[in-house]
Amino acid sequence: MKSLWRSRENGNPERISIERSVAEGTHWDVIVVGAGMAGILTAYYLKEQGKRVLVLEADRIASGQTEKTTAKITSQHDIKYSKLIKTVGRKKAKLYAEANEEAIREYERLVALNRIECEFKRVPAYLYTLKNQTALEEEARVATSLGIDAFFTKETELPFWVAGAVCFQNQAQFSPLKFIHSISSEVEIMEHTKVIAIKGKKVITKDMEITAEKIVITTHYPIKNVPGFYFIRQHQERSYVLALYGCNKINGMYYGVDQDGLSFRQAGDVLLLGGGSHRTGENKKGGAYDFLVQASRKYFPDCREETRWSAQDCMPHDGIPFIGKYSMFTPNLYVATGFQKWGMTSSMIAAMVLRDELCEKENPYAKLFSPQRIQLRAALGNLLCDVGKSAEGLYKGAFHRPKDKAESLLPGHGGIVTIEGKRYACYKDEEGRLHKISASCSHMGCELSWNPDEKSWDCPCHGSRFDMDGMLLDNPAKNDEWIR
Ligand SMILES: Cc1cc2nc3c(=O)[nH]c(=O)nc-3n(C[C@H](O)[C@H](O)[C@H](O)COP(=O)(O)OP(=O)(O)OC[C@H]3O[C@@H](n4cnc5c(N)ncnc54)[C@H](O)[C@@H]3O)c2cc1C
Ligand code: FES
Repeated sequence: MKSLWRSRENGNPERISIERSVAEGTHWDVIVVGAGMAGILTAYYLKEQGKRVLVLEADRIASGQTEKTTAKITSQHDIKYSKLIKTVGRKKAKLYAEANEEAIREYERLVALNRIECEFKRVPAYLYTLKNQTALEEEARVATSLGIDAFFTKETELPFWVAGAVCFQNQAQFSPLKFIHSISSEVEIMEHTKVIAIKGKKVITKDMEITAEKIVITTHYPIKNVPGFYFIRQHQERSYVLALYGCNKINGMYYGVDQDGLSFRQAGDVLLLGGGSHRTGENKKGGAYDFLVQASRKYFPDCREETRWSAQDCMPHDGIPFIGKYSMFTPNLYVATGFQKWGMTSSMIAAMVLRDELCEKENPYAKLFSPQRIQLRAALGNLLCDVGKSAEGLYKGAFHRPKDKAESLLPGHGGIVTIEGKRYACYKDEEGRLHKISASCSHMGCELSWNPDEKSWDCPCHGSRFDMDGMLLDNPAKNDEWIR
């Protein structure tokens, strides 16, 4: 279903702001691939610096994860700072805090400068727990020591008792599509233009080759496997959201740190209730939306649902986004990814860092976010876990011979079955029709897994997703032709 932001849009005209011959005939300073929050902000700043910039977008502006965000603009990223201090040290943890606080101020500045009506509002952000308050007391203490205006409390507006909460003052929220449409209005964009390859300074689409001095990949999950190897440096996680009418209004933004924690924020007359998070490709039993519906009935018995949706984000092993040079071997190629479900501030940081790098200026945060960093201590646990998951998915993709037959599938269910000795991912619809695609993901061949909540085939290795008929829904897979 459509997100709240998309369902409330009046319809924005398609953006093919330049002719194909002009796109091909111009030697651009920068091509940005992907028009989500990261790509649009990067293009906006580079244009402000006098660069000739073109954005190429496979679908529509913000049609990836950006239209599905809950749009909290905050430096409060789960229990972050006590972990960062342990894994990367106090200096880097402080830089992380400063970068995110600066990103909030920068949104505020852009909204005022461009007079953008996007319901931008400064509000407090809270982490809360129903269990053990110690970790949040520690997070409040550490955050304060790093310069964040934070405190520990047991008082919240939530309709249930909490064991403790940590409040970050002066955070923000907004309506992301209103903001991005306004900020993108001055940028040259070609929508419905999917990039299929990048070779040196050439960006290749189905029917065009466009050249640029520098190329920035902001496709959420990077579309180029080698070099860069982002597929072994992060995995994806999916979460679910309900937009509810008829709840008591809250002012702050809330995020539960316990397993099965819920997130809350007000958006006008609607409350956004989020949760049900899992690694993409690991939701065989489903029930994420049911979990949220039950919570909404318990805490807001009079509420009604306006819409529901889900989204996913990239989780880097060391808990820090990748922003900067794509790899040591690609001097003109840049990337921004790994936003850990905190992509509003991370997109802004990406845009500021990339602007400075591409304009050959110093940026205080460039080193911290550099994709060329090595933080083995911070990354090792997650790296080993991801390697294990990928090995399992690849083994299944190559050798697993399921015993199930298509006939044994019940209507409304999906599963991996064997038909004439071959493995297929099959969904039987309510009318009993079989929707059959290859069981192997078109990215690197892992076995797909059925997600009953979204009726999609999701890949547990790196998080590509396909609909029941094999149409590509989410990167890193680039094509869906051979899966159908
Ligand atoms: C449930 C949920 C809630 C969230 N809530 C918050 C929140 O409250 N606050 C917060 O800070 N963050 C939040 N996030 C994270 C945030 O939404 C994302 O990190 C952010 O939107 C990512 O922006 P992006 O520009 O990197 O990617 P996207 O918005 O996905 O943009 C990438 C674009 O690239 C395009 N593209 C892909 N491949 C190609 C290609 N080959 N050629 C051309 N174009 C291509 C896509 O169509 C897409 O438009 C949330 C995430 C989830 C999952
Ligand atoms: S094999 Fe990489 S996403 Fe499926």
